[in-house]
Amino acid sequence: MNLEKQIYIRKSCRKYLDEAIDMDLIHNFMKSVKPIINEIDYHYEILTRDEINVRNRWSAPYYLALYSEKKENYLMNIGFIFQQLCLYLQSIDIGTCWVGLDTPRNNTSEFVIPISFGRSNDMTRELSGFKRHNLSEISDFEDEKLIPAQLAPSAINSQPWYFKHTDDGFDVYQVKQNIFKRQILKKLNSIDVGIVLAHMYVANENTFEFKIKTSFDDIRGYTYVGSIKI
Ligand SMILES: Cc1cc2nc3c(=O)[nH]c(=O)nc-3n(C[C@H](O)[C@H](O)[C@H](O)COP(=O)(O)O)c2cc1C
Repeated sequence: MNLEKQIYIRKSCRKYLDEAIDMDLIHNFMKSVKPIINEIDYHYEILTRDEINVRNRWSAPYYLALYSEKKENYLMNIGFIFQQLCLYLQSIDIGTCWVGLDTPRNNTSEFVIPISFGRSNDMTRELSGFKRHNLSEISDFEDEKLIPAQLAPSAINSQPWYFKHTDDGFDVYQVKQNIFKRQILKKLNSIDVGIVLAHMYVANENTFEFKIKTSFDDIRGYTYVGSIKI
């Protein structure tokens, strides 16, 4: 299974086929997934379309409803863990889309976000089809090591991340949104940061380390979230 390859061909899938899926594929993969913050309990549930309040103009045959204990950085942890699953599903021809707008009918306090999934004929694209910020806009200087981050999905394609070079990796920052965007994006952007870190992990699996430093540079318009070694 080559998860890194999926980063360069995936797209959010919004057109699904009504085909059955062996859900053990998901349960088995989830045994090997890596969290970014240890000691936060999380779980997921597989739901069908009629168990979801769909607010998007499209729907999928299946949804993963994601739940977490609400400890510090739980949103980043959920993004990090489940983007690994999305890349795995992509590798076995199952399309996915994070769906901030939809909610389970049976909503509980631990619910975080759903991911739609299903078989599809419309879940890949050429590199030229990615609409993304330039590498020079997401870092202190252009660096091809950040291509996996550049291509990560985010809520309304907001790409709310910034990478500042260190000796062996990057300090990672999240964009501070203005008061209007913050209402919608605050929670989702923290998930986005977990997703972007999952791409950096999958692309540098053997060397990746994450830590939260106590001393770091302040960058205007951004909040420090942590540092990676790659
Ligand atoms: C946290 C999150 C929430 C999202 N919510 C929705 C959604 O409710 N509806 C939708 O159609 N797409 C949603 N998306 C998909 C984004 O619009 C998509 O990732 C982005 O436009 C980049 O496109 P790509 O995923 O095809 O690369 C969401 C993505 C993320 C990461």
